Amino acid sequence: MYRITVFRGDGIGVEVAEQAIKVVRKLGEKHHLVFEIEEALIGGVSIDKHGVPVTPEALKQAKESDAVFLGAVGGPKWDGLESSKRPEKGLLSLRRELGAYANLRPVRVFGDLAKKSTLKEEIVSGIDFVIVRELTGGIYFGEPRGIFVLPDGRGEQGINTEVYTTPEIERIAEKAFECARRRKRRLTSVDKANVLESSQLWRKVVEEVHKRYPDVTLDHRYVDDCAMQLIREPKQFDVILTNNMFGDILSDEAAMLTGSIGMLASASVGDHCALYEPVHGSAPDIAGKDIANPLASILSVAMMMEHSFNLLELSQSVENAVEKTLGDGFRSADIYQEGMRQVGCSEMGDLIVERIA
Ligand code: IPM
Ligand code: MN
Repeated sequence: MYRITVFRGDGIGVEVAEQAIKVVRKLGEKHHLVFEIEEALIGGVSIDKHGVPVTPEALKQAKESDAVFLGAVGGPKWDGLESSKRPEKGLLSLRRELGAYANLRPVRVFGDLAKKSTLKEEIVSGIDFVIVRELTGGIYFGEPRGIFVLPDGRGEQGINTEVYTTPEIERIAEKAFECARRRKRRLTSVDKANVLESSQLWRKVVEEVHKRYPDVTLDHRYVDDCAMQLIREPKQFDVILTNNMFGDILSDEAAMLTGSIGMLASASVGDHCALYEPVHGSAPDIAGKDIANPLASILSVAMMMEHSFNLLELSQSVENAVEKTLGDGFRSADIYQEGMRQVGCSEMGDLIVERIA
């Protein structure tokens, strides 16, 4: 038996998580496996019900399960709150509590979705790389932080701090080298070492770890250059290793290469059970309309089957079902192309489930 905690969260998180659950249930039925799904609250819904973005009980439940799935958090309703009370804080606490320091974000172009990219088809078709983003450190968590009154009374100052320690860099670098070893053995470490001390340490430690992975080719790029290269020649990349903040930004950029951010899945692995989430957010503007693309969530389920349960056949069958559904001409609104059939979130979920059978 596998115990999965599902946090639907807010906005389209609710709808896309529903499709992920359908897929998990179908996999269970088909392969005679028991996936026990327990839901819990995070984000705005938790603020509304409990007054906090995630409760200690919900965190405990997550930690005790075999894997965690999360839809998305946040929305305009909670935008005015200070950062320690916002929905996003729930997600950050969850990542931290699970020790999920390595965020793997595969960037792949499915079927003929290269046509949907804002870039030329020949630049993006066949793209296949992974962003390994450090997830529990850096400027997201560094102290001091806060908004403080200036002593001279001329206003306030907002402070955030980028901190990385040797062990934190070592463990994420190891994950990235391991990942590269399973792929084309090319690792690009991204930093801002021409300006930031935290990046200088990052570079030094990555070089050290590289000594244990001589079979992997390593190069370093500054983040501004990397942002440009992603648009100029994205196929040069195999594995990109970077910190929390740069990884956040570069993965949204990379998402656009694939046609839509609605296609990008992720796994966050570390000390305890892993966390699976679509890369996209809660998209309040389309929430509740049944038009969101559930494929990022469904592909995150595929990652769960592989990384948490080592059920490679199941993982493959989910990916095949996604390929097949797209190949059969079904599209959610974000990836719609002329001549194809546009379907809603829930119908897309059903089409995938049918094709897993
Ligand atoms: C992501 C999101 C989160 C992040 C937010 C919602 C806290 O943008 O998963 O990329 O910045 O990590
Ligand atoms: Mn993001």
